[in-house]
This record gives sequence, C-alpha cells and structure tokens, in this order.
Amino acid sequence: MQDIIEQLEQKRALAKLGGGLKRIEAQHQKGKLTARERIEILLDDDSFEEWDIFVEHRCTDFGMEDKAIPGDGVVTGYGTINGRLVFVYSQDFTVFGGSLSEAHAEKICKVVDQAMKVGAPVIGISDSGGARIQEGVASLGGYAEVFQRNVMASGVIPQLSLIMGPCAGGAVYSPAITDFIFMVEDSSYMFVTGPDVVKTVTHEEVTAEDLGGAATHTQKSGVADMAFENDVQALLMTRRFFNFLPSSNREGAPFRETAETQDLPEMSLDTLIPSNPNQPYDMKELITKIVDEGDFFELKPDYAKNIIVGFGRMKGSTVGFVANQPMVLAGCLDINASIKGARFVRFCDAFNIPVVTLIDVPGFMPGTSQEYGGIITHGAKLLYAYAECTVPKVTLITRKAYGGAYDVMASKHLRGDVNLAWPSAEIAVMGPKGAVEIIFREDAKDPEKLEERTEEYRSKFATPFVAGRRGYIDDVIFPHNTRKRLCRSLAMLQNKDLENPWKKHGNIPL
Ligand code: HXC
Repeated sequence: MQDIIEQLEQKRALAKLGGGLKRIEAQHQKGKLTARERIEILLDDDSFEEWDIFVEHRCTDFGMEDKAIPGDGVVTGYGTINGRLVFVYSQDFTVFGGSLSEAHAEKICKVVDQAMKVGAPVIGISDSGGARIQEGVASLGGYAEVFQRNVMASGVIPQLSLIMGPCAGGAVYSPAITDFIFMVEDSSYMFVTGPDVVKTVTHEEVTAEDLGGAATHTQKSGVADMAFENDVQALLMTRRFFNFLPSSNREGAPFRETAETQDLPEMSLDTLIPSNPNQPYDMKELITKIVDEGDFFELKPDYAKNIIVGFGRMKGSTVGFVANQPMVLAGCLDINASIKGARFVRFCDAFNIPVVTLIDVPGFMPGTSQEYGGIITHGAKLLYAYAECTVPKVTLITRKAYGGAYDVMASKHLRGDVNLAWPSAEIAVMGPKGAVEIIFREDAKDPEKLEERTEEYRSKFATPFVAGRRGYIDDVIFPHNTRKRLCRSLAMLQNKDLENPWKKHGNIPL
C-alpha cells in the first residue's frame, strides 16, 4: 500500500509541475503567475479541490503521443471565496501554451456542468495560445462545447472571466459570453485576429497591446469590465467583487452586516446640485455617500463614462446602481452608454439584484455619428432592459430627466416601483431654452421676450411637481435623506413578486 501511496504522490507532484520548471520560470519572467498560483490567491486557503489532475490528451499526431502532460494544460475544480462555493478553471500556459485540446475542453465543461447542477458561479482564467494546433478539428469541437455551456449557464449562474495572458481567435467568444471580463495590464490581450493577420488583410500595423490589450478593451471597445496592474491585484479584486454576487438565479445576493444602521442625514447632499443647471457635478459623490461604508464597485469605469454602473450595498444587501454622469457629455445617453447600462440592468434582473437608478439626463445624444451608428436600436436596448426587468426598481431624479431619456430610465411607466425626485428635478420634454424656441418661434427675434418665455417655462415645467401631480413621482425628497428613503423603499420591496408573460424569449433589439 505504501508503494501505491508514494506513486500517487509522485504522480501528483509531476502533474503540479505542469510544463516543468523552465517554463514556470519563463512564466514568472513575464510577470505572470502560474495557473496553480492564481487559484491559490483566488480561493480561500486550503479550500481547493482539484479534479482531473490525471487527464491527458489523446492526440497521436505530430509526435504528440510521447508528449502527454497530466492535467493537459488546465487546472480545474472547486473551492470557496469567503466561504462561498465557486468552480474554477485556470489555463496553464506552461503546458503546450495553455492551448485547448479536446481533453482540456472536457475538463472545463465538467466544472461548468457541475456548477450548473449545484448553483454556484464559475470563474475561468484564460492564458492560452488558442486551439491545440496538433488536434485540429477536435480542438474546435472542444471550444464549441464550452461556448454552448457558457450560453446555457448565462442567467443561471454568474460567470466571470479573468484574462491573464493570450486569448485569441475564436477563444475570445467564451469570455465574451460570460458576465464579466477582467484583464491584466501589459500581460493580457484578446483579439479575434492577431496583428499579423490584420497587417495582411487591412495593411494596418498594430501591436498586440494596441489591438487587444487591457487599455484597448477597457477604454475603446468596452469588451472588458476592469483592468488591474498585475495578477495578484486582479485576483484579490475578483474576491472582493465576488462578494457582491449571488451564487445563482435561485438565490438573492449575499447579505453583509453593516455598521451603518442609523441612516443619518447626509447634509452635504443638499448642496451637491450647482445653482447653474448647466454646471456639472460628480454623480459618484452621491453614490459613495449613500452606499454602505462608501463601498462602490464600479464596472467599466473608463468606458462610456457618461453612465456609471456598479454594485454597492444598502443596509447589507447588494444593489446595482445605474447613474447618469453629468461630468461627461452632460450625462447624455449615447450608443455606448445605452449598451453598457442595458447589459448591466439585465445582469441584475437575471440574478435578483435590485436596481437603483440615479437620473440626471438631458436626453439622447444628437448627431449623425449616433444616428448612423444605430442609436435607435442601441438606445432601445436600455429601454427594453428596464421594461422587462422584474426586480425591485427604485429611481431618483436629481436634476434633468428630459424627453425619451426620462421614459427609458426606469420611469414609473416602465414599472418603476418607487420613483423619487429631489426638489431640483426638472422633468420635461426638453430643456426650457429648446422648448420655447420651438413653441414660441414667433418670439425668436426678441431676446427679451424669449427670456421671459423661458422663465415661464422653467418655473412651470422644470420642476418635479408636474410629474408629482400625476403620480409619476411618488415623492419629492430632501437630498440629505436620500439614503434613508432609498433603503426604506428597498426594504419595502424585498418580497416583490412580478412575472412577465410566458414566452420562449423576447426579441431584444440586438
Ligand atoms: C499547440 C502551442 C500553441 C497552440 C503555443 N503553443 N500555442 N501548442 N497549440 N495553439 C506552444 C508552443 O509551441 C510552445 O511550446 C509553448 O506553447 C509556448 O509558446 P511560445 O510561442 O514559445 O510562447 P510565446 O512566445 O509567449 O507566444 C505565445 C503565443 C504563440 C503568442 C500564444 O505561442 C502563438 O502565436 N501561438 C499560436 C496561436 C494560434 O495561432 N493559435 C490558434 C488560433 S486559432 P514549447 O514546447 O516550445 O514550450 C484558434 C481557433 C479557436 O484558436 C476557434 C474557436 C472557435
């Protein structure tokens, strides 16, 4: 028996070495951790249960029959993060460049299948040269098997992708289907076709970093949600992020005790809105002043900055925040902001997370580039997402809520449960100046008269009370009481039960 135990130990030790010390050293030289080191940081101490450490590829072409490495380039299993179950797979670049073989894909599929059965999130760590070239179509089949599972798991369990090395070709579509993508600066990249192919086809010269590095995807394409300086920071932030998420669509988000039970008035909010309606202010200040301990986890902070999305907690429970940012493009909704907001609202809706919407929006962004780019279709995504959403929806209008943007952003008419406004709210078809220029066109040449009309319009419509008289706004509140009023609304909505009519699925304007 002792012999067998020793053999087992040796086999395990060999598997844990992956592609060997030289390749591990090369990985470290690139500033990257190994697949196993990453799992060790991501999961609670001593919680990792590994599966399939002895799985090997079955390829016999190109001399591969002599090159099997146990584990076959991906470390899989389950463990806990702050005590909560999570399934993981972590590609091992030291084994055939982390490339995906049929067996490697089967290992990933096994953990996703199991996560679905028990209702726990999956975190995938990508560090791979793509399809295992020696395996050809068997590898392509493996990818498609993973994609199919990602799609089936979408909306059932949260799926997170950490890109910590190459992720290229069709391989990018697995992370793309998952809920969130985090990248590491300078050591990770994602693209459908690499710089060489780009050069051949379009004659553009571009580096891998410029084509698909962390900065590109967090600032230009919006593909990634966050970028971190190095592996350790990315893994630790993933642990923090995980704490906001429910384990599956059958559960609510985890509750975390907060010391802030008193809801003391925050007097500084009474002066947050500048007296000049065209002067911006930072909406993030409002968010951090109303969430528990000022702890707000913003997503896509460098992309479509005119809308803010992210998670915070109110009285211990996770809340998804969507807020216009008057500091950027005056908070206008454009194509990118609409998509960013819509996708976030749909995640919250799928996973039982209440949505708090903070509004200061002068409307949809005008212009040919927006119209040619399809703002009609993309703006409709946000509208659709809010309208189909059945989780608690609490809305606060701080200043402008003009035109279609008023309707779209969780208005009463889109089944907003509680719609509040600050006294500074202006709920109207458009801003006073634009409005009088249209309805009093005959006065356009008389600046004095125009000013008079503008003032008349402003005092009549640029307030929350017209909407309040119709019940579109449930109450006009003191800014300093915002946290208290939102927390009470969310508590009241805790057992909200609303179902959409049965359908196979809707047809969101994609
Ligand atoms: C088999 C691979 C491999 C692959 C890398 N390796 N990619 N083995 N299949 N796809 C091996 C190398 O042979 C090498 O083995 C080791 O991994 C490390 O690779 P290096 O090239 O030395 O590393 P580096 O210089 O860091 O470059 C990394 C890389 C490069 C940029 C990823 O390896 C590369 O370009 N690989 C090929 C990428 C590719 O074309 N993949 C197929 C894409 S198509 P040794 O033994 O020397 O250590 C695709 C389709 C998916 O993925 C479709 C899904 C729908």
